[in-house]
Amino acid sequence: MQTPDWVARGQPHIWQPYAQMKTATPPLPVVRSHGSRLELADGRQLIDGVASWWTACHGYNHPHIAQAVRAQLDAMPHVMFGGLTHEPALTLARRLAALLGPGLDRVFYTDSGSVAVEVAMKMAVQFWLNQGERGRSRFLAFRGGYHGDTFGTMAVCDPDEGMHSLFRGMLAEHDIVDLPRDDAAMARLDAFLETRGPQLAGILVEPLVQGAGGMLLHDPEVLRRLRRLADRHGLLLIFDEIFTGFGRTGTLFAFEQAGIRPDIITLSKALTGGTLPLAATVASGRVFDAFWSDDPSHALMHGPTFMGNALACAAANASLDLFESEPRLAQARALSSALAAGLAPCRELAWVRDVRVLGAIGVVELDRIDDREALKRRLVEAGVWVRPFGNVVYLTPALTIAPDELDTLMRAVIAVLRAQRP
Ligand SMILES: Cc1ncc(COP(=O)(O)O)c(C=O)c1O
Repeated sequence: MQTPDWVARGQPHIWQPYAQMKTATPPLPVVRSHGSRLELADGRQLIDGVASWWTACHGYNHPHIAQAVRAQLDAMPHVMFGGLTHEPALTLARRLAALLGPGLDRVFYTDSGSVAVEVAMKMAVQFWLNQGERGRSRFLAFRGGYHGDTFGTMAVCDPDEGMHSLFRGMLAEHDIVDLPRDDAAMARLDAFLETRGPQLAGILVEPLVQGAGGMLLHDPEVLRRLRRLADRHGLLLIFDEIFTGFGRTGTLFAFEQAGIRPDIITLSKALTGGTLPLAATVASGRVFDAFWSDDPSHALMHGPTFMGNALACAAANASLDLFESEPRLAQARALSSALAAGLAPCRELAWVRDVRVLGAIGVVELDRIDDREALKRRLVEAGVWVRPFGNVVYLTPALTIAPDELDTLMRAVIAVLRAQRP
């Protein structure tokens, strides 16, 4: 099929993410999306197993979100948030606070996940500075973690999977340790914090699933241990729910499954149902109170140009409507059983190391993937959009994916993995 003219003319001017531009398979031109389908320029339809990096929780083009964005576009697409405010942003803040529950009720908007984490880190450091405690600029973060691509966030990602060696000398020093998965590890971390604690601003973790760092799962007990450690050593606990938020793990927020609460939480991705860029860093009253002062220098020093974008806030409000009016969490839980049953046959393959599922996340971990580009091509030829990384093939479909589409998606993955060692 012929390449569309806009690809031939535009592609020489584009720089794709995470891609060796010389050797990577050219990106697939998409002309339309609907539900769990991507329509390519040549007319092919792919079933989407990724939901655009886990954002499109209601599937693509949900009419309720589209209508809300259209109405907002007519009224006011965007105004600066410095000195001005508007109904979509305030309504969304109020609704997020209500959903997050007591203690997480002050919302700071940004426009990407990485920046939301940067703001959480800045909040935590300034929380201490405003109370006269200097020298607390380090964070405790975890191996296998991923928090973004900016310089601040790269420094708290997994040091091997992340870009620590590439940017050595430019990244801040933090303490990246193993998650405390048992009592002995907890005791070791406790002893470490006895000496390191006074230099730390907080503990930063992706609750229940370390996503882009390898789709690694941990038990809610790990989060309860971290809460205990944070309390014992007087540290702020920050949950990065940019991946896990909005139903992905089977509850609206992952922290609910641990029965404890963080001091700061970051949200993005599915916040707008995957339609527009928006992120939020939500702080507890205790954190906010450290900024509430007659001293202007105690203000939080951050303010992105597109902060609180009205279109994005309208989309997010419409997305929250759908969590109220449609059975998203029940769908996520049903997906969990369907993924567990559907992916189980992968266990029989000699090159599969593990199959694991949590909520609407299905992961097939291989011993290695020699040629990811070839694997991706074979998956596309099988009619599905799945984007393996590292040694992992994962499915994070829209929570609304139809059972027959999910079935086709999983059968395609199994057939491709079975046909040859990737
Ligand atoms: C847990 C987590 N934190 C932060 C980010 C960074 O978000 P963004 O790509 O919007 O900057 C991601 C993105 O995958 C993520 O999964």
